[in-house]
Amino acid sequence: MSSYAAHIATVQARFDAALAATGFDSVLVYAGQPRVAFLDDNPAPFKVNPLFKYWIPVIDSPKSAIFYEPGSKPVVFLFQPRDFWHAAVKIEAAEWQQHVELVVIDDLQKLTDTLGSKLQQAAFLGEDFAEPAASWPVRARNPQALIDHLHFHRAIKTAWELENLREANLRAAKAHLAAKDAFFAGKSELEIHHAYLAAIDSRETELPYNSIVGLNEHGAILHYDMYDTVAPAQSRSFLIDAGATYRGYCADITRTYARESGLYADLVAAVDAAQQALLAEIKPGVDYYQLHVSQHLKIAQVLSDFELVRGSAESIYESGISSAFFPHGLGHFIGLQVHDVGGFLRNDRGDEFTRDPRHPFLRLLRPVEEGQVFTIEPGLYVIDQLLEAFADAPELNWQRIDELRPYGGVRIEDSIVVGAEGNNENLSRDAFAKLEA
Ligand code: GLY
Ligand code: MN
Ligand code: MN
Repeated sequence: MSSYAAHIATVQARFDAALAATGFDSVLVYAGQPRVAFLDDNPAPFKVNPLFKYWIPVIDSPKSAIFYEPGSKPVVFLFQPRDFWHAAVKIEAAEWQQHVELVVIDDLQKLTDTLGSKLQQAAFLGEDFAEPAASWPVRARNPQALIDHLHFHRAIKTAWELENLREANLRAAKAHLAAKDAFFAGKSELEIHHAYLAAIDSRETELPYNSIVGLNEHGAILHYDMYDTVAPAQSRSFLIDAGATYRGYCADITRTYARESGLYADLVAAVDAAQQALLAEIKPGVDYYQLHVSQHLKIAQVLSDFELVRGSAESIYESGISSAFFPHGLGHFIGLQVHDVGGFLRNDRGDEFTRDPRHPFLRLLRPVEEGQVFTIEPGLYVIDQLLEAFADAPELNWQRIDELRPYGGVRIEDSIVVGAEGNNENLSRDAFAKLEA
């Protein structure tokens, strides 16, 4: 059996279980359609419903839908507009077509005519802000219990999903290397961003999220995506957090570079070492929350070693100071979505883990399990807005902090596939190693 055949069999089984548990006979998964800007006729880039691309690797066919009734083959209503304004998306022969009943339509009326009264029994999953989907007489729209069930089980990736994630990481790593060269060649943020896209023949809308391309102080702005068009006189440091997609699956990689040796270059190496030390702690059964705390203690040790903060790692963590330097979560699930779903779910009935107000941005609280894929992305930044709370704290060494401020910060981010007993796969480092071999 091919890996895709096994994947769609798993998706089917997961839908069977979710529908049975939530009392639905069938489901209609709608791909969605582009939104149009206010008072305008220009569509925003189309982002397909993730539950649609979970079934089939089709990301560019708005108004398509999948009808699935346990016991029958999924029916894919593939929308192909008869339209002389736009180029048609070509339907190329692909393996997924052998596993579904394919119905090509050019009018959604054909979907409702074909399904007839079955539509009234179906749960609808998708966006329904526009007609005709908004008026389809379905039994329920996006029932939370069904979504929770599906989201909980999506955390464990199939072999086919891992293949796609590997390829997405390879694409991202290739672009990262081009961006690194552009930084060392003294290019502007926008030029670096263009070098990234050119390296993988990609347009911006194909990226999983807005790339973060920050020189110098911009490295401290967690989601910086402004892209200066002029290179700074001195390009000291470079933080790039950028991904790529493959068959709808996402990569999310961060690297940080120092132009010259010295304090900041040493800090980049120390954060990288702290990230790798944390990677060694990942194994099934460990709580992701504990990994987050463990990473905080390692970053706190770096703060102490670099004399940015006085005190032991424990006291720097307990006082909340490490959160001022490392304010975001350790990471998140990744897959069909860059921030993949289900990170707070305790079970497939929708119960959630209690969130810790000390770590409000942590998106993943589940115990680590074999087959999960998540990011590990510690950071250390000079963010004045967060340091203000400690303005009078004797622990902070402002002289050192001032020295570091012109470099922004450091973040290192990889995606990890959890294996048995800590035998994990690092999708991102493996991709770089393959390209640099
Ligand atoms: N690129 C967004 C994140 O790392 O979560
Ligand atoms: Mn991330
Ligand atoms: Mn990222």
